[in-house]
Amino acid sequence: MVLAAAGVREWKMEQERAAALSGAQTAVLAETLTETEAESLPQIRTEAESQPQQLQEKKKIALTFDDGPHPYYTDQLLDGLAERGVKATFFLLGCNIEGNEEVVRRIAEEGHLIGNHTWYHVDITTLSQEEACAEIQNTSRKITEITGQPVEYVRPPFGNWDKELECEVMMIPIFWSVDTLDWSTRNADRLVDQVVSEAEENDIILMHDSYDSTVKAALRIVDLLQAEGYEFVTADELILE
Ligand code: NI
Repeated sequence: MVLAAAGVREWKMEQERAAALSGAQTAVLAETLTETEAESLPQIRTEAESQPQQLQEKKKIALTFDDGPHPYYTDQLLDGLAERGVKATFFLLGCNIEGNEEVVRRIAEEGHLIGNHTWYHVDITTLSQEEACAEIQNTSRKITEITGQPVEYVRPPFGNWDKELECEVMMIPIFWSVDTLDWSTRNADRLVDQVVSEAEENDIILMHDSYDSTVKAALRIVDLLQAEGYEFVTADELILE
């Protein structure tokens, strides 16, 4: 019993010492922390404020241009996109390529994505499989001859795509989420207002690089949406997410 009591007393003292020690350590630690905090607080705040902007992923959006290449407006558009460091997507018509090979080469060289929009702007669901495949394959072949790159994406005219279509090369269709109807309005101010007010993250915007009004509007749209924190990407980036 005595031994046991002595044991308990010793244990209690041990506990008290430990408590005192840890209390002292905590106090020292608290003092150290307070000093450190007081010195580095403004710096920590500055980092916390600047980091979210650097680390936060930007809202992505894609501009797509159908029915080109156009002998005049596509180059104008490319100039403006290059000035702004923006990449876009061009769905080309095979029948518009002849005579505009330099434009096609430039689109590819400047890092934009080129897709297929059939040869004659046809609704492929109204064609036989053979005719539909010819529309697509001839266009892809023509583009590849010029750019040296395979064509993987198709924007089916009128949005009509036959999922069962089996051509030599399978194509991935890319549709759109905002139809600007730029071919009908032909008004840059209205286009800008429409797109900037409707635009949301991950939108794929459908336009045509065949009009002066569209080129002007597209570049203003880029400026306004970049200021809102949007990053312009090629359309393949948005369908694969
Ligand atoms: Ni079209």
